[in-house]
Amino acid sequence: MFISLEGLDGSGKTSHLAWLAEQLQARGHAVTVTREPGGTPLGEKVRAITLGDPMCLETELLLMFAARRQHLEEVIIPHLAAGRIVISDRFVDSSYAFQGGGRGAGMERVRALDTWCGGPRPQLTFLFDAPLEIAQARMGGRTLDRFEQESPDFHRRVQAAYHAIATADPGRVVVIDSAQTMAAIRSEMLAIALAKLSTSTQY
Ligand code: TYD
Repeated sequence: MFISLEGLDGSGKTSHLAWLAEQLQARGHAVTVTREPGGTPLGEKVRAITLGDPMCLETELLLMFAARRQHLEEVIIPHLAAGRIVISDRFVDSSYAFQGGGRGAGMERVRALDTWCGGPRPQLTFLFDAPLEIAQARMGGRTLDRFEQESPDFHRRVQAAYHAIATADPGRVVVIDSAQTMAAIRSEMLAIALAKLSTSTQY
C-alpha cells in the first residue's frame, strides 16, 4: 500500500510519520519511509536546490517532477512491487497545492506534468490541517526554507488547494485536524491505515 502525508509547513505531519511506520512494522508489515522532494540521492540534491535557490515557477515545478520521477523509479515502484508499505512525507498533492495553488501555476499545468510523469497513486493520503496561525507559530523557532518564508497569502492559497483536493477525492484523502492532541491524531491515523490495509489490494 502507498500512503502519503500532506499539509502546510508546520502542520505537524512529519512527527507522526515515524510513529505510524513503527506501528505498522510492529504488526508485521515491511515499511519504507521516504519523502519529497527527495527520497533518492538525486532527489535530495534537487531538494536542497528547490528549498534554497531562487528560481522561476516553471523551473520549480519541473524540478519537483524531476525528483518525483526518480523517486518513483528507484523507490516507490520497486518497493511497492516487493510488497512493502511505502509512506511518503509529501507526494504529488504538494505540487498541486504549492505550485498550482500557492504559486498560481494553475492546476492544468500541474496535471499535464502529473499525467506525463505517471506512476502509482497513493491509496491513502493524510492531510494535516491546521489553522494557518497555528502552523505558522509552529515554524517560529526554526530556520525557514524558501517556502516557509512565503507570505500568509501564499500559505492561504496552498491550504485552499489542499481543501479542494480533499473535497474532490474523499475516498483517498483523510483530513486530520492537527489541532487535536497527539494521542488523538495517532489513534485516528492508525485505525484508518489498518482499515485501509485490510481492504487494499496489492500493487
Ligand atoms: P517539508 O518536507 O514539509 O519540509 P520540512 O523539512 O520543513 O518538514 O517540505 C518541503 C517543502 O517543499 C514544503 O515547503 C513544500 C515544498 N514542496 C513543493 O512546493 N512542491 C512539491 O511537489 C513538494 C513535494 C514539496
